[in-house]
Amino acid sequence: MHFDLGKARLRKPEPSDVDALFAQKNDPEVAAMLGGFTKGYTRADLARWVEAHSQAKDEALYVIADATDRCLGHVGLYKIDHRIRSAEFAILVGDKKAWGTGVGRACTSFMLRFGFEDLQLHRIYLEVLETNERARSLYESLGFKHEGRLRHAQWKGGRYLDVHVMGILEDEWRSHAR
Ligand SMILES: CC(C)(COP(=O)(O)OP(=O)(O)OC[C@H]1O[C@@H](n2cnc3c(N)ncnc32)[C@H](O)[C@@H]1OP(=O)(O)O)[C@@H](O)C(=O)NCCC(=O)NCCS
Repeated sequence: MHFDLGKARLRKPEPSDVDALFAQKNDPEVAAMLGGFTKGYTRADLARWVEAHSQAKDEALYVIADATDRCLGHVGLYKIDHRIRSAEFAILVGDKKAWGTGVGRACTSFMLRFGFEDLQLHRIYLEVLETNERARSLYESLGFKHEGRLRHAQWKGGRYLDVHVMGILEDEWRSHAR
C-alpha cells in the first residue's frame, strides 16, 4: 500500500532504503535538528530499524519517496493510543536537496488528515528543538499550538536546548484544514 501526495509518495520502509537512510541519518546538519544523542548509525542499525518499523503495531510510519522511489526520509505517527485517541508525530526529510521544496508540508498535512480522519484521533502532539525554526514554523502554519517548553531537555552543539511541545486537537484541525 502507498499514498501518492504529488510531491512525494509514502510507502512502507524496505531493505533497499538502508543506503539512503545511512547517508541521511549520519548527516550532522540533519542530526542537529533532532533530539537525542547519536554516535552515528551503522548499516546494520538501519537494517534493524527497517525491520522493526515494518512490524510495529502502535505506529503508522512511512518512508517518503520521490518519483524514482528513492528514499528522502520518513514520517509517521507513533505511540498511537486508541483508548485516549492520541499519537505523536515525527518527520525527517533527510535528503537536504528536498528541504524547502514543500515535501515536509505535504507529508505533515497528509499525516494530520490520516490521523484525524482514518485513525479517528483526538490529539496529535510532537516535540521540536527551540533552534529548529523551519520545523516550528511549518507546524504552526498547519495549526499546531505551542503547549509547553521542556527547559534544557536536550544537549546539542555544546549547550542545553529547550524542547517545545506542540499539539493539535481534532476540532482545531477541522477548522484549520477547511
Ligand atoms: C522540518 C522539515 C520537515 C520541513 O520540511 P521541508 O520540506 O524542508 O519544508 P517545506 O518546503 O514543506 O516548507 C514548510 C514550511 O517550513 C518553513 N520553512 C521552510 N524553509 C524554511 C527556512 N529556511 N527557514 C524557516 N522556515 C522555513 C516555512 O514555514 C514553510 O512554509 P511555506 O511553504 O509556506 O514557506 C524538513 O526540513 C526536515 O525534516 N528537516 C530535518 C529534520 C527535522 O528538522 N525534522 C523535524 C524535527 S521536529
